[in-house]
Amino acid sequence: MGGKYCNAFRGLLVLAGTITMMMAIGARAAASPDYATALSKCILFFEGQRSGKLPSTQRITWRGDSALSDGSDIGMDLVGGYYDAGDNVKFHFPMAFTVTTLAWSVIEFGESMGPELQHALEAVRWGTDYLLKATSVTDVVIGQVADPIGDHDCWERPEDMDTPRTSYAINQTHPGSEVSAEIAAALAASSIAFKGSDYQYSSALLERAKQVFDFADKYRGSYNSSIGQAACPFYCDFNGYMDELLWGAAWLYKATNEDGYWNYLRNNIHSLESIVVRNINGNSFVGASFAEFGWDAKHAGINVLVSQWVMNENSSNADPFILNADKFVCSILPESRSKSVSYSPGGLLFKPGGSNLQHATALSFLLVVYAKYLEVAKKVVRCDYVVATPTRLIDVARGQVDYILGNNPMGMSYMVGFGRKFPRKIHHRGATLPSIHAHPQKMGCRDGDYYFKRQGHDINELTGALVGGPAEDDSFKDSRYDVGQSEPTTYMNSPFVGVLAYFRATSSK
Ligand SMILES: *[C@@H]1O[C@H](CO)[C@@H](O)[C@H](O)[C@H]1NC(C)=O
Ligand SMILES: *[C@@H]1O[C@H](CO)[C@@H](O)[C@H](O)[C@H]1NC(C)=O
Ligand SMILES: *[C@@H]1O[C@H](CO)[C@@H](O)[C@H](O)[C@H]1NC(C)=O
Repeated sequence: MGGKYCNAFRGLLVLAGTITMMMAIGARAAASPDYATALSKCILFFEGQRSGKLPSTQRITWRGDSALSDGSDIGMDLVGGYYDAGDNVKFHFPMAFTVTTLAWSVIEFGESMGPELQHALEAVRWGTDYLLKATSVTDVVIGQVADPIGDHDCWERPEDMDTPRTSYAINQTHPGSEVSAEIAAALAASSIAFKGSDYQYSSALLERAKQVFDFADKYRGSYNSSIGQAACPFYCDFNGYMDELLWGAAWLYKATNEDGYWNYLRNNIHSLESIVVRNINGNSFVGASFAEFGWDAKHAGINVLVSQWVMNENSSNADPFILNADKFVCSILPESRSKSVSYSPGGLLFKPGGSNLQHATALSFLLVVYAKYLEVAKKVVRCDYVVATPTRLIDVARGQVDYILGNNPMGMSYMVGFGRKFPRKIHHRGATLPSIHAHPQKMGCRDGDYYFKRQGHDINELTGALVGGPAEDDSFKDSRYDVGQSEPTTYMNSPFVGVLAYFRATSSK
């Protein structure tokens, strides 16, 4: 119910059982989904997650202005940004990762978005305008806004919530290198995304990215301990902050071409731990770091990103970035002996950790991006005896996209509002409660329980939201109580924007 179990452990659910099944992914014959429509909706979703004062161009109209006093507790303007998921907290660590991957989607595939490019840039800017506010005081980074315990104890609309909107600051004595460096990455990546359309804004983002990166690097420490219970157990930084520092440096190098960032990367890449231990609900999962990419672990993203400028037809695979990017691919391909993900009977990729579609979308994004780089360098990936061409990487990603959009045993799409059958009871406060416009009377902390418990469909459609997705046997409950299956998060949609843009442009439909 709408109490403290709502999404508190979305990153921490355990997927029991290992399924070792060799499936011919994509063998199911069916017409391709309408990728262009899926792309439009995937971007539209971000308007439903907006916090702050909504513009007149707002297209998800059941939402209203919210959290207009954020930051007032510390004398700052922190109005804006995104709610991360089905609750009303602004968690800046995953929010920044969302912005980084949205910007990366635009950088790689913006030209394939057609009329949606404008909307994608608006979605990035809604994030960067806010991240500029969160970093407006020198040597301070706001790491989060809203007390998550208070928020999760209520089931309230963002428009009239009355839970504590506490601002949590990172500074020299209370550092948070992961959240700061991820914000630096987001600002640097976005500066590239805006370079062609708004040079002034792009320059401002880049200047701020440099400052924030310096702060993150100079005052090292984890926000785990600095802001404590407000961030962890919700979005604990399990694997340390070195990956975010390197990821930030990689984006700054891509944005500036300055040797300093490249040297930083080369000098520190070997200090990235080779094994990532993830503590998920009290159980330890050990994974090779090259196989990880998500709001906590940036490893595979760093290797794929850097491979673009170190890979050419003559580059040897001994290079740590390419070697590890190749190993990442081998950890995914169903036919690879060193595969470390599993696949459901219907073909969906699974990894431990809740909200499974976050893995399917983020890893598919890297496959498509890496395929693009391989194509340019005329290279293939070798996984023991298996040779994987760029086309093979694309096909595996397409299998995931098509599954998510409806080509699966349940015959349902896992994107709200897409296709004939989609999730109708999502774990999202705004979607379940009457719109502020339809029901302007104040609703208090527990007034939403009735709506949460009722069996009916959501009152408001959070169009374009991807949910956590089915269980590993391909079944889906469509229940608000099943947080891991039914809750949307911004970082599931953000890399999917790039993947959909790619397929929109390359499929005949
Ligand atoms: C740093 O932040 C902590 C906790 O947010 C606060 O108690 C402390 O006063 C701050 N230090 C400075 C130098 O602002
Ligand atoms: C953050 O906290 C989690 C949970 O207590 C712990 O496993 C992890 O090692 C901490 N991370 C850092 C960088 O201290
Ligand atoms: C690769 O090596 C060949 C032979 O040395 C050279 O002619 C070619 O220019 C090189 N290509 C690149 C992209 O460096």
